[in-house]
Amino acid sequence: MFPGIEERGKMRARNKYRRPTTFRCNAGSRLGLSTVVLGLIGFLAVLHLLSLLRDKALPDEETQLLIDQYPYFQELVEVEEEVFRIPPPRKRSARAMKRKPKRPTTLLEEFLDETSQLRHIFFPDMKTAVDPLKEVGNGSYYYYPGRIWLDTDGKPIQAHGGGILHDKNSRTYYWYGEYKDGPTYHAHKKGSARVDIIGVGCYSSRDLWAWKFEGIVLTAEETDETHDLYKFNVLERPKVIYNDKTGKYVMWMHIDDANYTKASVGVAVSDYPTGPFNYLYSKQPHGFDSRDMTLFKDEDGVAYLVYSSEDNTDLHIGPLTNDYLDVTSVMGRVLAGQHREAPALFKYQGTYYMITSGCSGWAPNEALAHAAESIMGPWETIGNPCMGGNKIFRQTTFFSQSTFVIPLPGLPGSFIFMADRWNPAELRDSRYVWLPLIVGGAADHPLEHSFGFPLWSRVSIYWHKRWRLPFK
Ligand code: GAL
Repeated sequence: MFPGIEERGKMRARNKYRRPTTFRCNAGSRLGLSTVVLGLIGFLAVLHLLSLLRDKALPDEETQLLIDQYPYFQELVEVEEEVFRIPPPRKRSARAMKRKPKRPTTLLEEFLDETSQLRHIFFPDMKTAVDPLKEVGNGSYYYYPGRIWLDTDGKPIQAHGGGILHDKNSRTYYWYGEYKDGPTYHAHKKGSARVDIIGVGCYSSRDLWAWKFEGIVLTAEETDETHDLYKFNVLERPKVIYNDKTGKYVMWMHIDDANYTKASVGVAVSDYPTGPFNYLYSKQPHGFDSRDMTLFKDEDGVAYLVYSSEDNTDLHIGPLTNDYLDVTSVMGRVLAGQHREAPALFKYQGTYYMITSGCSGWAPNEALAHAAESIMGPWETIGNPCMGGNKIFRQTTFFSQSTFVIPLPGLPGSFIFMADRWNPAELRDSRYVWLPLIVGGAADHPLEHSFGFPLWSRVSIYWHKRWRLPFK
């Protein structure tokens, strides 16, 4: 059974996005009665049309159905606020002030400051770790975004910049990500923090909460300096999809050198979801530089590569070959000039959605949701999907960066948003931020060419200190 939620932050009911409409009639008008009546009819027709369009975009009934079916669904869409008090700066001598006058003042500066007194809020210690072993029997299933998350061996999960494969054959979820359990260092003064390649970590789970370590399914190359996976290079954001035609599990990843100048994608393949994966090759897809990337397998079996390109100015999308081992010659430029990365794609009721981040390295920034009728575009930006927390939470994607969106079977319009809270001081201690993502409700800002009518459903990611899937 699903227990009640005891410790809740301040909550308020969800805004329904219906704004009151006022209509004023000037009784003293000199206009003829017929003009007034015609005008009134016209106005009512527009109102009716507007309500029809809004109803189309507002799956309120669906949400209600979900709430009826799963009473705890309501809790996912409640807006939970966070209040932080930034502690007054510690007293420092005049000399110390002169040496280093600036103290962090904003929450973001506190987040980025390894010595901040608020560090424990963003990176709580082992005492609060989410531990499936401890919960054996009473099964908690609670997600605590930002806490250390242990696997079923009691070790912190190492699957950063990851993605999930739902293997229909075994009805098991596999989580693949960067295994970063090595020392963090800077290759040179201006280089960004890094961990040598260890490989791709793989974890399995039936419930998306208790994860069993399946091993490092693609491993670094220790000695061959010419190999893409040579440990001093970069392997990021691995994603795995299953090819129904070939029966193979195909992994794509961002391959780079330590200076991020190689800007390529790498491809590996395996007969089993748990590997080992056989590394095939790397390339610059369609002849372009490629950094943050993801894969998306559509319902018709066609899979797509999505990557940040042209020095992260644009995103490129292109279908893979039938065996998923290469790109084809087809490629579309989307969100051109918008400098987006960390793409995470999903689909709902025939519409494609994507969450992206801005480009600020390991530092968090504002997420944006985008929507498209065709995966090849045009893609339109709906806005920042983050709800709750507080302003700085929403402006920093809850101090994290998107990596993947998991569809929840049986819960239409409901997904899990997966993000990384990077810790550049100790990358292996980066945290996972998993939150409910719901598609529903009208978009906040009508789009440029939609004559004021919101065309897309709203995408909302709800902040929760702790939450669980409603069907546990
Ligand atoms: C981010 C990117 C991460 C990683 C990082 C390195 O922009 O999303 O995957 O590459 O930069 O600084």
